[in-house]
Amino acid sequence: MEEILNQYETVHASDATIWFKAGKVEDFPTNRGGCIKYKNKQIAIFNFTRRNEWYACQNACPHKMEMVLSRGMTGSADDIPKIACPMHKKTFSLIDGTSLNGDDYKIATYPIKIVENEVFVGFVD
Ligand code: FES
Repeated sequence: MEEILNQYETVHASDATIWFKAGKVEDFPTNRGGCIKYKNKQIAIFNFTRRNEWYACQNACPHKMEMVLSRGMTGSADDIPKIACPMHKKTFSLIDGTSLNGDDYKIATYPIKIVENEVFVGFVD
């Protein structure tokens, strides 16, 4: 399980050295998640139209290491955009990946930019 989690580390937009083309805007459902693969990583991407924002995070839920976060429910908690895992409903901030349940679990988040209708996710390697 540790091995899976070690593949994922939060990337800030200013640190991204690679912008991977994940698809077109219309390839991703609104207010729900889509999943892409980048190297050995599964990345969940959210077109959060209710907030007019895009977010990306690891698809692996750190609770039981299920690859499910892209199928979770998006929402907001005190104005923090969040994703709720579909398995046991643990919730995570899509801004910094922290648990909103007070658990020690954390998810990695990734920057997104939209350029001419294409969706790019930022990575460092
Ligand atoms: S696997 Fe995600 S909350 Fe349990």
